[in-house]
Amino acid sequence: MATPIIAPFPATRLRRLRRTENLRALTAEVHLTAADLIWPIFVTEVDGAEGEIPSMPGVQRLTLDGARRAAQQAAELGIPAVCIFPHTAAELRTEGCERAWDENNIANRAIRAVKETVPDLAVMTDIALDPYNANGHDGFVVNGEILNDETVEALVRMALVQAECGADILGPSDMMDGRIGALRSAMETAGHKDVAILSYAAKFASSFYGPFRDAVGAAGRLVGDKKTYQINPANREEAIRCVARDLAEGADMVMVKPGMPYLDICRAVRDQFGAPTFAYQVSGEYAMIEGAIRAGWLKRDVVVESLLSFRRAGCDGVLTYFAPQVAEWLHRAGRGGA
Ligand code: PBG
Repeated sequence: MATPIIAPFPATRLRRLRRTENLRALTAEVHLTAADLIWPIFVTEVDGAEGEIPSMPGVQRLTLDGARRAAQQAAELGIPAVCIFPHTAAELRTEGCERAWDENNIANRAIRAVKETVPDLAVMTDIALDPYNANGHDGFVVNGEILNDETVEALVRMALVQAECGADILGPSDMMDGRIGALRSAMETAGHKDVAILSYAAKFASSFYGPFRDAVGAAGRLVGDKKTYQINPANREEAIRCVARDLAEGADMVMVKPGMPYLDICRAVRDQFGAPTFAYQVSGEYAMIEGAIRAGWLKRDVVVESLLSFRRAGCDGVLTYFAPQVAEWLHRAGRGGA
């Protein structure tokens, strides 16, 4: 950190550089561009389930055709990646989670559809069993316990199929121990050496995921909570150890999740490891901001301000449901950034 030298007033008038739009642009310390965004999209295989998610106003569950259109929109707006989340049919959720590694599950069909539509758009996946699990957990549940090692084996199977379907970035969001190493070595062995891993490394057991669970149809299903595998929101040191461990096992990029309540973790991860660092502005953050805007309590500018906070905290990029809205706004604003 440079030591700030401040001449006494009036030699220093910090307002000089805030006087005009151009001076402010010239002295901005960080910028936000469409290239910093990953757009999470929900794809449903259930007839009639497409359309707006009530707890995430403005966010849609898409059909496969909708996913193709979203891919085109992302490409036009300069958003480099989409992240696909499946909304699965109730009868296909089982305790054995077999649908997770079926090449025709909706997530895998969506990966292929997006890659066919816009081959260079980076496709990120979600790796966890919850969309396919009868009880809503990210891992197998036996007698109330979430099994670690058996789950990791299933996650590897799931990831191999995603890679076959054309995934560019694997997104393990399950928080089992040992999954990054297992995924990395399976990819190397199977000839997918260039498939990248963006690890949900510092994923906290958060109530901010509520609207997401509505979106993927897991809300009423989750038995208990995820506290035996996701990080206690009180723990910063543990989060840093999780990131260190995942990088040591071969993660290419790491994520902090949720975002705004955990900016201290973002900054610490960036400073300590210097690896590509992302934050996930999760569903509950989206719901709070969008809800307040729609109620007339906040102005829409708050969206860009919220995303700049991640850049200031050292993040290279952000997963955000605001991605298309913000990218469009940035294009209209004409600076290619904020
Ligand atoms: C599940 C998963 C969750 C999210 C992404 N993947 C929810 C959870 O852990 O229960 C949350 C995303 C969001 O809230 O926007 N593996």
